[in-house]
Amino acid sequence: MKLENGVPAPANRLKNFGVNLWAEFSSLAKEHKATNIGQGFPDFVVPDFLQEEVRKAVAIPSANWYTRAQGHPRLVKELAAEFSPLFNRSIDPMSEIVTGVGAYEVIYAAITAFINEGDEAVVIEPHFDCYAGDMDLSGGKLVRVPLRPTGDAKYAKNWTLDREEFEAAFSERTKMLITTTPHNPIGKIFTKEELEYIGSVCKKHNVIILSDEVYERVVFDDNEHVRIASLPGMWERCLTVGSAGKTFSVTGWKIGWALGPANLISQLQHVSSCSTFTAPTLLQEAVAGAFEYERSVAHTDDAYFKWLPAKLQQNCQMLSDAFSEIGCVPVWPDGGYFMIVDTANMGWDFSDLKTGRCYDVDCVKWLTREFKLATIPISVFYGNKNRHLAAKYIRVCCAKSDETIVRACQIIRSLKKQ
Ligand SMILES: Cc1ncc(COP(=O)(O)O)c(C=O)c1O
Repeated sequence: MKLENGVPAPANRLKNFGVNLWAEFSSLAKEHKATNIGQGFPDFVVPDFLQEEVRKAVAIPSANWYTRAQGHPRLVKELAAEFSPLFNRSIDPMSEIVTGVGAYEVIYAAITAFINEGDEAVVIEPHFDCYAGDMDLSGGKLVRVPLRPTGDAKYAKNWTLDREEFEAAFSERTKMLITTTPHNPIGKIFTKEELEYIGSVCKKHNVIILSDEVYERVVFDDNEHVRIASLPGMWERCLTVGSAGKTFSVTGWKIGWALGPANLISQLQHVSSCSTFTAPTLLQEAVAGAFEYERSVAHTDDAYFKWLPAKLQQNCQMLSDAFSEIGCVPVWPDGGYFMIVDTANMGWDFSDLKTGRCYDVDCVKWLTREFKLATIPISVFYGNKNRHLAAKYIRVCCAKSDETIVRACQIIRSLKKQ
């Protein structure tokens, strides 16, 4: 047996795990008491209706007990009522939905349920980092295809797939495609036409689609969030992932779900039932109440799903104006929590870009240390091959309180004077 420091060495599946980047950047932000517009957690006060749902839930005795492993009955019924019209089908709450401890756990369950050692999953790059970690844990391999800016890179919608490159990524080892829309970090919302194309390639190769749609409620301008599973012939191969944390801006609640056909969902239910067993009953009950409340005020001025995108778009506009004033180039998002910003005009020397040096990391550390403004480098969302595509970009989060946004804009404008 291989020993390390006198105890058994960790399992091989952990060989690629090192310092967690989120831990590194959040402790840097804390150390410098920085205004944090990097990480994707809203810091606004929880709205009254959500506070009320928690109060009501805790008073129900059974909401404080273990619940059904595959998903709290009241929540899965609410999710079925909420999503059936959005998918143009009647979703069965018990067999076509699984809930988990955040979208994180549901994604882990999906990858664990379907990826064997040696299997491949195609992922659109840049991508949320946990897809890579989950693939490592399953012994699978991610095959990354980058979004490339075509035309005016100042608009997220102009970051597109090269179709030849995309199709070349598929082989007989490919079992899954992982997509994110609205996209983290680019802020792109894939159009119906793009999703039809992606779906057709997946159908040709008999691949499961893991569609991460945690930012589905944050859609700007006249864009439309299209659910790939709602397109003709797609439901059968899609797992659609959502998050109450992102939907209701309460990321600490950690309630997520996946929707899909019973034969796929039942496999995720197996993984969840032997990992976490259930997500907290109390919060599943509160999320169910929140959806019910939201449906009762839909299309009125009290609707949270109306307020949230409007507020985040306003915040994005404020940050975009501030960055533009100092000569940086923000990439206007179609939706989601994030916006990326080209920092080339901050004066970095990009002459050794191809050596793999990531200026975004230097830039983020410099902004945090010297100006007390925390952001996130984009290169952490890439594999080694394409990391150079991101070297000039940092990510900012628009899901922040007025106070945080105003403070961040002041700091950004002060950079001009330096
Ligand atoms: C694209 C994406 N998917 C999933 C998650 C995880 O969501 P949750 O907080 O519900 O686990 C995040 C969180 O930042 C995310 O950005």
